[in-house]
Amino acid sequence: MTDTFLYSFWYVAGPSAQVKRGKLETKTILGQKIVFGRTNEGEIFALRDFCPHRGIPLSYGKFDGNEIECCYHGWCFNSAGTCTKIPSLTEEDNVDINRIKATSYPCREEGGVIWVYVMPPKTKVPENLPALPTLPGPKDKAFYHVDSVMFPCDVDHAVIGLMDPSHGPYVHASWWWRSQRSMHLKQKKFAPTELGFKMVSHKPSSNSRAYKILGGEPITEIAFQLPSLRTEHITVGENHIVLLTALTPIDDKRTELHQFMFTTIGLINLLRPILKPFGKSFIRQDLEIVRKQQEGLAGEHPSLMLLGGADQQALWYHKLKRTWAEAAANNVPFQNPLPEKTLQWRS
Ligand code: FES
Ligand SMILES: [Fe+2]
Repeated sequence: MTDTFLYSFWYVAGPSAQVKRGKLETKTILGQKIVFGRTNEGEIFALRDFCPHRGIPLSYGKFDGNEIECCYHGWCFNSAGTCTKIPSLTEEDNVDINRIKATSYPCREEGGVIWVYVMPPKTKVPENLPALPTLPGPKDKAFYHVDSVMFPCDVDHAVIGLMDPSHGPYVHASWWWRSQRSMHLKQKKFAPTELGFKMVSHKPSSNSRAYKILGGEPITEIAFQLPSLRTEHITVGENHIVLLTALTPIDDKRTELHQFMFTTIGLINLLRPILKPFGKSFIRQDLEIVRKQQEGLAGEHPSLMLLGGADQQALWYHKLKRTWAEAAANNVPFQNPLPEKTLQWRS
């Protein structure tokens, strides 16, 4: 197994709507089995899906919207993971049950997105948690839509596919978007950010006709940051559309993609019939190509070619990851090693 995971980051667990009040949902993230729940008061929480008594997944237990009762011996745990009841104890047993804890994960919710902070296995949550990743655009943008898809590959292939500018004319060719005939030289300026890099604001390529439907000259800024988050901020006059594409490693063979769309455009529902299939068809095309790639790789991890300006972002991703892992291993602060650079490629 290759260890492609980066720990000590906030990861997207999924859209808020996935965890209903009084219900539990299980999810594996970075190989760790987690049970998410939402209390009757609407508060979200995440615990290791493992009863500290004898290891049975807590998710098999009963949840009353307040506490989980383990299905094996009835121990109860609250949303913080603290044990609140051990039915078999008698007065003779001198046990302080509140000191028994199911491992709890920091879990937060913002704008319709559930985030979970994932540490390396068997380590403690640090006292000072980093802030949640901030999204570009004004504060008053509202959640509009999410698409979620499971990619059958590790996170590295998924990220590189996401940041790859040269597959567009081949994988996403269509009459209304672009084709091989419309390929031309692109030149984009990139600058480092705190945890990644961004393509400095630019007007969309002249052959992206679909944007014209929005009415106006859009300005786009695309950014990537560790561990595996891409944001795209489109400004059209007073209006903003923000896309958050989050890749969450499930294990070394699966990566979940969530693409959230936020906007300040109140009437965007009128565009729903146009925008929804637009985003969906892109993701399906990426999914199909990743499936074929995995067929070629057949479970192997050969070193593959990264070549020219078109693959520079993939090289940067690997460099960021290596630098992060080294900084974590040496217990020193991460410093972004990337330069400012103009990249060119044909697509
Ligand atoms: S295993 Fe959970 S209560 Fe015993
Ligand atoms: Fe794609």
